[in-house]
Amino acid sequence: MTEPPKKVRAGITGIGSAVPDRVVTNAEWAGLVDTSDEWIRSRTGISERRFCDAQTAASDLAFLAAQRALARAGTAPQEIELIIVATTTPDYPVFPSTAALLQERLGCAQAGGFDLSAACSGFGYAFYTAAQFIENGEFKKILLVAVDTLSKNMDHTDRNVCVLFGDGAGAMVMEPAAAGYGHLASVLGLRGSGAEELIVRHGGSRAPLTPENIASKDRYISMNGKSVFKFAVSIMGEATEQVLKKAGLKPEDIDIFVPHQANIRIIDAALKHLKLAPDKALVNIQKYGNTSSASIPLALDEAYQAGKLKKGMLVAACGFGAGLTWAANLFRWGY
Ligand code: UT7
Repeated sequence: MTEPPKKVRAGITGIGSAVPDRVVTNAEWAGLVDTSDEWIRSRTGISERRFCDAQTAASDLAFLAAQRALARAGTAPQEIELIIVATTTPDYPVFPSTAALLQERLGCAQAGGFDLSAACSGFGYAFYTAAQFIENGEFKKILLVAVDTLSKNMDHTDRNVCVLFGDGAGAMVMEPAAAGYGHLASVLGLRGSGAEELIVRHGGSRAPLTPENIASKDRYISMNGKSVFKFAVSIMGEATEQVLKKAGLKPEDIDIFVPHQANIRIIDAALKHLKLAPDKALVNIQKYGNTSSASIPLALDEAYQAGKLKKGMLVAACGFGAGLTWAANLFRWGY
């Protein structure tokens, strides 16, 4: 193996996910905005998605996903030393963090924790961050949760955006991996020049919500779909190649490719670029739409439950999103 030697590598020792019960079909959207099942399926690959009800917030989905990951890892909440929550849709817009809510609800009495904001790339950023804490010996058990509820931040009359997103959460326990398994390399990227391409303009310190602007559509997601599409098509292949190069590996070494689930045409383009057979990619966009930071761990958890992930498999994950951001992670599945 040409992988770089490392004393300790971070590995996933338990994984879980959660989605809301409510299924929203393309037919439902076609009854609300000027769209059709045919358009949505052919342009995006999405057939349905899940939406939280009014009472359910990000921390509720995060809690369920985290409980499942902890149970699979055989880890008691009190053993967790750090909680990292990747989200751009926290329960509360300023504070407290979703990590704090989760710490209390799970009973992670010894844990520190924080939220991390990198939009749809949030999982990849959080995974790399967690891996650093483990690989430098600082922590032995970290709970990583990626959760988003973008159904609550979009204009339900804007067909350019509303048909794309769904709600979900993915969680994992990360610990030092057994020799030969775990995290091999990651790459992170930012292109702030594209900040306007995917943005929620109101509700932050630039334009706080006021009685005057509360009715403006600027409190919702605004997206230049074509421009994000173009960016995504090039960055998925490039970032995955970069992370492979960092570990001295090649696209043909990948056993499982986990792309961010934003559009099936973006996934197909990445597969073509990397010359990967379609059956190497985990794809569940048809059922959940774009669940933002949750999409990669949600797809991984489904694959784990279906028995598709075998010990020793090389997994490459790649996400991209608002910022513009991207992240790619490479690891050997070890449980
Ligand atoms: O996590 C990252 C988040 N975002 C993304 O990854 C999004 C990346 N972009 C995309 O996935 C695609 O650009 C979209 C799915 C958003 C749009 O697909 P497209 O093939 O790029 O369509 P388009 O924007 O070029 O629009 C083509 C037509 C337009 O009509 P006209 O101007 O040709 O008359 C749109 O108004 O399709 C229209 N359109 C729709 N029609 C039916 C846009 N949305 C819809 C819709 N139903 N939901």
